[in-house]
Formats: sequence, structure tokens, C-alpha cells
Amino acid sequence: MKRNSVIALLLVLLLSVACSDATQGADKTVSLYPDQQSAGFKQFAKQCSACHRPPMPNIHPANLWVTTLYRMQKHRRQRGLVIMTDAEQQQVLAYLQSHSQ
Ligand code: HEC
Repeated sequence: MKRNSVIALLLVLLLSVACSDATQGADKTVSLYPDQQSAGFKQFAKQCSACHRPPMPNIHPANLWVTTLYRMQKHRRQRGLVIMTDAEQQQVLAYLQSHSQ
């Protein structure tokens, strides 16, 4: 009986440690996007979250973002989504390139 309650206490401790770790990890991921107050970031978050998590800008060098955005427009068309206007695309590109590799 006594042994069982020690084990139960250990389990509760373990679970609470695991949970607080998970929360900290999530906070960190969110705050990693650079320049979150900018209009560029807001446009990027709006245009790039429909199909997958928005990518971190620093996963690609600046020039690669041009072709990647072009491909994402194709995905939009294929899924029947509204495509980005030239102005919107320019704003997203500027945001990605200013924080690229
Ligand atoms: C209509 C759905 C859709 C939207 C909206 C979308 N994507 Fe994608 N994205 C995809 C699909 C499908 C893939 C996997 C195939 C591929 O790589 O083309 C992908 C893959 C990616 C990848 C990984 C491949 C690589 O080249 O590194 C990146 C980065 C990416 N998208 C960036 C973006 C950005 C930036 C935006 C906002 C402008 C965006 N996506 C919006 C559908 C979308």
C-alpha cells in the first residue's frame, strides 16, 4: 500500500514535468518567427498557413524564396484557392528575404 502511493506520487511528478516542458517548447516555437509586429509578417502568416505551418524564413537563402512562392501559387490554383495578388506576393517575399539564410 505504502509502496503504491510512492509510485503514484512519482508518476504525478513525472507527468507534471513532462507537461511543463511541452508548454515551454510550444512558446519557444511561436516566438521564433522574426519581426512579428511587422505588416510583412502578418501578410506572411495570412498567406502561408492555409495548407501547412508557415515555414521559418531562415530555412532558405533569399533567391530560393522566389521559386518557392511561385510553386505555392501553383498549389493555390490547383486547390481552387484565391491566389495572392502581385502586391501581396511582394510583401511576403520581402519579409522572407529580409530574414532568409
Ligand atoms: C494551397 C496550399 C499551400 C499554401 C497556401 C502554401 N503552401 Fe507551401 N506547400 C504546399 C505543398 C502542397 C507543399 C509540398 C510540395 C512542395 O514543396 O511544393 C508545400 C511545401 C512548402 C515548403 C517546403 C518545401 C520547400 O521548398 O522548402 C515551404 C518552405 C513552403 N511550402 C512555403 C510556403 C510559403 C512561404 C507559403 C506562403 C506564401 C506557403 N508555403 C503557402 C502547399 C501550400
